[in-house]
Amino acid sequence: MTKIYAHRGYSEKYPENTMLAFRKAAEVGAEGIEIDVHLTKDGELVVMHDENTVRTTGTNALIKDLTLAEFKALDAGNVKNGEFEFEAPPTLREVFELLVETGMECNIEIKSGVFEYPGIERKILNLMDEFGLRDKIVISSFNHYTVCRFKELAPDVKCGFLEESWLIHPGAYTRNRGVECFHPFFNMLNHENVQDLRNNGIEINAWTINDEEDMRKALRLQLEIAITNCPERFLEIRKEVCGK
Ligand code: G3P
Ligand code: CA
Repeated sequence: MTKIYAHRGYSEKYPENTMLAFRKAAEVGAEGIEIDVHLTKDGELVVMHDENTVRTTGTNALIKDLTLAEFKALDAGNVKNGEFEFEAPPTLREVFELLVETGMECNIEIKSGVFEYPGIERKILNLMDEFGLRDKIVISSFNHYTVCRFKELAPDVKCGFLEESWLIHPGAYTRNRGVECFHPFFNMLNHENVQDLRNNGIEINAWTINDEEDMRKALRLQLEIAITNCPERFLEIRKEVCGK
C-alpha cells in the first residue's frame, strides 16, 4: 500500500517545516513527513526549505551564515497572515525526538544543491544512529553526489535520487549506483519510465501530489511513498480506494 508522507510537514494548513506542521501530520495519521535539512554556520543540522530564511521567516539571511542561536531566534510560525504564533524553526534533533514519540517515518531531503555543506551526510547518519532511526528514514537529494556519499557511509539506509527532469532510463541510472529509490516530480511519471524503474527493482517515491486525480493515479501506480501537502484528503481517498 502506498504510504502517505506530509510534504514539509502539513504545509497545506500549517507553516511549512515547523514542529506544529509535523505534529499535525502525525495527528491525521500520515505515515511520514518530508523535511529539508541544512547546516548552520556552527555546524548544526536544521530544518527549513530554502537556503535563505526570508520566505518562511521574514528575515533575509542564509542559513549557512547563521549560528544555531541566530537560526532559533527566527519566527517560522508567523508567515501565514499572522494566523499562527511565534515558533522557532526546528533542529533535526527535535524532529527525531518527534519521530521516536510518534513512530512516524521521515524522508530527509539533504539541501546540498546550492551550498554543499561538507560533512552533512556523516552528521545526519550519526544523529540517526543516536536515535536508532536507520529503518525509519529515507535519504534523498537533488545532489546525487550527496546521495552516493550517504549510500557509501550507510549501505543499509534507503536512499533515493530526487529528479525533476525527464531522465531517460532512470532505472539503470539508479540501480547501477546501488540506490533503491527514485523520487520524481509526479508529473514526469508515465508508463514508460514507471516500467523502466520497476524492471530495475526501484521504489518510486513521488512529489508533490495535491490534486485528487493525481492521488488516485498514485494509488493505481502503487507508488511506495506519495508526498503531499494535503495528507488528510489523501488518507481519505486511500481509504476509499484501498480500504485502509
Ligand atoms: O522531496 C520532494 C520535494 O520536496 C522536492 O522539492 O523544492 O519541495 O524541496 P522541494
Ligand atoms: Ca523537499
